[in-house]
Amino acid sequence: MKKEVVRHHFDSIDSTNEWIKRQPIRADQILLATADEQTAGRGRHGSWQSPKGVNLLASFGLKWEREPTLLPLIMAVAAAEMLEDLGFEPALKWPNDILIAGKKVGGILVEATPDKAVIGIGLNVNMDRFDQIDQPATSLFEESGQEYDIEEITEMVAEFFEELIETKKPAILSRYGGYLMHEPGAPLSFRLGGKKIEGTFQGIDENGFLKLGLKNGEIQTFNSGVII
Ligand code: BTN
Repeated sequence: MKKEVVRHHFDSIDSTNEWIKRQPIRADQILLATADEQTAGRGRHGSWQSPKGVNLLASFGLKWEREPTLLPLIMAVAAAEMLEDLGFEPALKWPNDILIAGKKVGGILVEATPDKAVIGIGLNVNMDRFDQIDQPATSLFEESGQEYDIEEITEMVAEFFEELIETKKPAILSRYGGYLMHEPGAPLSFRLGGKKIEGTFQGIDENGFLKLGLKNGEIQTFNSGVII
């Protein structure tokens, strides 16, 4: 059964993820919250900064009883395929940073309860200043010199997302793998909490977790952390 997308748009909201968390969600619906501005936008490692009205700020909420670990990958693939359709060459940095030309253009924050999932995406669309952002960042405007209609981008992301949540796991993993920037065997520095770990990229397992080859020859699997 294909779920119906029910959208709510806000001029200003604390966080679209937080708003979705406060709503009841029907099994036959996907709730989509979008906003021009968030006053308390959240990222994976702190706040998510976005000037008003220039970027995509969206959260999808749905009843979800399968493993939540695939949800960040689903959203990452939806964003990457949408960007490719627009003519960009996106790459994904594990687990779900969206990059163009090696710079971050978007990020994904998934929050799951046993029966409900919230998948938030922030994508820099028409932004032209990056001095508030603490890492190399870009936008679709910056990369193309062209302004984009945020409504159209929202609809495209929603369409890819709707298709991908009905897609079987092996196909999701294979589509995700096609965008990953990490080459098999490439050296990686990885940070988990306060700890830095050096290793090599050994792929992604069936849950979407990172497989890191350690110096002692072992392969260790991580479900969170940051590749630096
Ligand atoms: C990251 O840190 O890379 C994830 C960023 C996720 C930001 C989006 S913007 C819409 C949604 N609402 C939030 O408060 N965060 C997510």
